[in-house]
Amino acid sequence: MNDRFLRACRRQSVDCTPIWLMRQAGRFLPEYRALRQRHPMMEMIKTPELAVEVTLQPIRRFELDAAIIFADILPPLEAMGVSVEFVRGEGPSIAQPIRAAADIAKLVVPSPEEIAPYTQEAVRLAARELNGRVPLIGFSGAPFTLAGYLIEGGSSADYARARRLMYDATDAWHSLMEKLSLMVGAYLQAQVRAGAQALQLFDSWVGVLSPADYREFVLPYVARTVAMARQAGVPVIYFSTGTAGMLETIATTGADVIGIDWRVDLGEAWKRVGYGVAIQGNLDPLTLLAPLPKLQDRVLHVLGQAGRRDGHIFNLGHGVLQDTPVDNVKALVDLVHRETQRS
Ligand code: CP3
Repeated sequence: MNDRFLRACRRQSVDCTPIWLMRQAGRFLPEYRALRQRHPMMEMIKTPELAVEVTLQPIRRFELDAAIIFADILPPLEAMGVSVEFVRGEGPSIAQPIRAAADIAKLVVPSPEEIAPYTQEAVRLAARELNGRVPLIGFSGAPFTLAGYLIEGGSSADYARARRLMYDATDAWHSLMEKLSLMVGAYLQAQVRAGAQALQLFDSWVGVLSPADYREFVLPYVARTVAMARQAGVPVIYFSTGTAGMLETIATTGADVIGIDWRVDLGEAWKRVGYGVAIQGNLDPLTLLAPLPKLQDRVLHVLGQAGRRDGHIFNLGHGVLQDTPVDNVKALVDLVHRETQRS
């Protein structure tokens, strides 16, 4: 069994640095695109056999050290009474966004079995198929990133509507975040019961906030969600982007591993979050589209920043881009393993 990813999450010694990639199951793979031509996104997510197939695709092709369950962050919201669709070429969309306190009051806190049951089943099947070959990561959107989609109805440059709700209807905001953190915590726990061996919380858009707003309106809910997830007994990764201005605060979420983007040097980030946590990152995803010598140079830079300290998990600073050449991903995975071989 390859457990170097789980060992690194706990800052234990490893034979070489583990690597997996956010969005490793996705459109840069021809075998994903082939399947996707025949099935709409929501059908892929809601059919456990298809979700398992896509989860395993990158594991068959590359020597990755972890698998991540194929799913998305928005479908679990359906259990709260919200309808979610995928719009071709755009991503997830919520036709009737949450805009008023009355909408928030109507949101249901579901029981664990009701939250994306198809994904829970996919985790069960994928864990069985993997059979310990590499660990399986379960995941969820974090409360703020989910609230952002719920309020805006889709992606947004600045999440201004969501941020105005914090100021204009503060009680309603707290009630929304309370409900979301309970749902997310229960969902993460359910994925562990189904066989997930680590969990990642994606707070992809929280970098739009000032540190003061993060501390007042978001941090208590992330901390509570992380605590619920950790009760399940597996390592928890908290990933955010655009948060280089508040890493010391991010470190207080209680996560075992902090995932960072590429806008900060990994060595500086690790020093600021403290060596009591593991660190995940942080190659710029665009580097995978660069000529090989430049890719190699930047990979060595990230590894140099980690300085062979135990507790580094190599990853990109965000998801794999669609135009990424498959051969470059193979070169990346092999380079990280080769360069970090411990004697
Ligand atoms: O990492 C993996 O390989 C596992 C699968 C996974 C997907 N989405 C599949 C997906 C994971 C972990 C996610 C997380 C996710 N989804 C996040 C957080 C991480 C991040 O990227 O910031 C967010 C914000 C979403 C919401 C989402 N889903 C958007 C904005 C989009 C459209 C933009 C895009 O990249 O396509 C999606 C669609 C999506 N989710 C695809 C995949 C493979 C592409 C769907 C397609 O085939 O058309």
